[in-house]
Amino acid sequence: MNYTVSNFVIYLEKDYDEMSKRASSIFLQYLNKKKNGVYGFATGTTPEGLYKELIQEYKLGNISFKNITSFNLDEYFPMDPSSEHSYHHYMMEHLFNHVDMDKNKINVPKGNITDYEKFCHDYDMKIKENGGIHLQILGIGTNGHIGFNEPDDVFSKGTAKIKLAESTIKDNSIHFGNSENIPREAISMGIKSIMMCENILIMASGKRKSDAIYNMIYGNIEPQNPGSVLQLHKNVTVVVDEDAASKIIDKTKRI
Ligand code: PGA
Repeated sequence: MNYTVSNFVIYLEKDYDEMSKRASSIFLQYLNKKKNGVYGFATGTTPEGLYKELIQEYKLGNISFKNITSFNLDEYFPMDPSSEHSYHHYMMEHLFNHVDMDKNKINVPKGNITDYEKFCHDYDMKIKENGGIHLQILGIGTNGHIGFNEPDDVFSKGTAKIKLAESTIKDNSIHFGNSENIPREAISMGIKSIMMCENILIMASGKRKSDAIYNMIYGNIEPQNPGSVLQLHKNVTVVVDEDAASKIIDKTKRI
């Protein structure tokens, strides 16, 4: 089922697998319309199922990544791209190694650079030179972050080095064995960079995301609630499972 709540088109799916399938079919529609477009990818647990579905579609011959350019949202800092914990490694393992991506058109922020200010500036320029991002995939943090744009006093602008929130360190330390090993900083596309994407596809699964989804749709638009800024974007598709939607179901009564 899909619903429209203010500017959000919301697909409500039964569980994680159905959420992944729905997101995949939406991605396919965009990709088949714009085969040489610029696509923004996200990492984390949420899009893993989507990437599995996309690999499947590729193997069935329903989709090609040959002519697209990709930009990833973020990367830990410091982080060597060759590390198994890097988002570079994640993307290769979960998607790029299994499809016909042109490796020269893959862009993931680097976590091992010294001149990160120049790197961030160049990253934004490269997105611009490529005509901007046609479709950006997003997850959302339990604290409402999008990309690694954590709750803050101001909305961030372009790509920048940021400090991870304690809640993010706690949430993500599962991938690092313990919270001692996880980097405290990251390079992330900013809120302005995300708002400049033509289309956004945001996904969430599980009860632990239900507050973040509620606050994104109904919360005050403020930098302490980063996802709320999407209320101002013209083209946001939300794909959620029933657990992640549990708070908005109560609110609207009709979902
Ligand atoms: P997750 O992270 O998919 O691992 O839950 C989402 C996010 O932090 O944006």
